[in-house]
Amino acid sequence: MANEAGKVAVVGAGRVGSTFAYSLAASGLVREIVIADMDLARAEGEAMDIAQSVPFHRPVRISAGGLADAAGAVVTVITAGAAQRPGEPRTALVQRNVEAMRSILDQVVSANPDGLLLIATNPVDALTYAAIKMSRLPPGRVIGSGTVLDSARLRAELAAHYGVDARNVHAYVLGEHGDSEFVAWSTATVGNMRLEDYCVATRTSCEPAQMEQIGERVRRAAYEIIQRKGATNFAIAAALTRIIEAILRDEQSVLTVSTLVQGEYGLQDVCLSLPAIVGRNGVQQVLPVPLADGELAALRRSAEAIRGVTQRVA
Ligand code: 2OP
Repeated sequence: MANEAGKVAVVGAGRVGSTFAYSLAASGLVREIVIADMDLARAEGEAMDIAQSVPFHRPVRISAGGLADAAGAVVTVITAGAAQRPGEPRTALVQRNVEAMRSILDQVVSANPDGLLLIATNPVDALTYAAIKMSRLPPGRVIGSGTVLDSARLRAELAAHYGVDARNVHAYVLGEHGDSEFVAWSTATVGNMRLEDYCVATRTSCEPAQMEQIGERVRRAAYEIIQRKGATNFAIAAALTRIIEAILRDEQSVLTVSTLVQGEYGLQDVCLSLPAIVGRNGVQQVLPVPLADGELAALRRSAEAIRGVTQRVA
């Protein structure tokens, strides 16, 4: 079956999957959303609830189903799997979630060999790598949500710190979506000015210690939220919706998704987040953004950390 322009499948009706399905329904980007979960009643409940919000948005069909219903979806978004408990690192989930991924992908890919996969399940970099190997899809068609969320957290922090619109702050968190991630401070701009120049021009503070604290808050954001409410769901749902928008509208947007690196920065055969151009065919190109020496070293350390986790399940 040819993929329909406006169909997206969501695997997993937990907090991330259902919040994302709602965010996508409210976005008006798609004509059809199907939610699949092992617990069909739960998927049905979420689909019914979201469907009842449709009169407040643009028309969209919402249904619950099985993995075979991913047939015809332009993108299947995988959110299923165990979630972090308070204090637990994302990497602790790898064994549990890689097995779930295997059985999900067997069914999704045989139902929909032409669709893209967007992986949100943690640890997302290791699972994106595993999904590429398991699905045998071209690597650019298997995308991890990566640090799109962390980069948004960073922009929100910097916007609050400087009192400017977050949309005018451009700054990347790169590497792992996890404890070894780092901020590429040398590439950060506000209103098209390098951060140091912006600080001088506006007489605001760019103290390294303050920037370090901001980076640390971004790195620890999920721990802090999970400690308080048991999970994160809204910002990741918005990040997934943004990635879907870039794909469906073929926007060629630069997003810090997790993708297979094949030679960039001297790295090979590991999935991690770098600024990449995303459109209808998935990741079209990784951008070789110049990084400072310390950032390059952080990128290599992050790649090693991810490789260590990936090898546990390879
Ligand atoms: C997050 O960063 C837990 O990975 C999820 O919100």
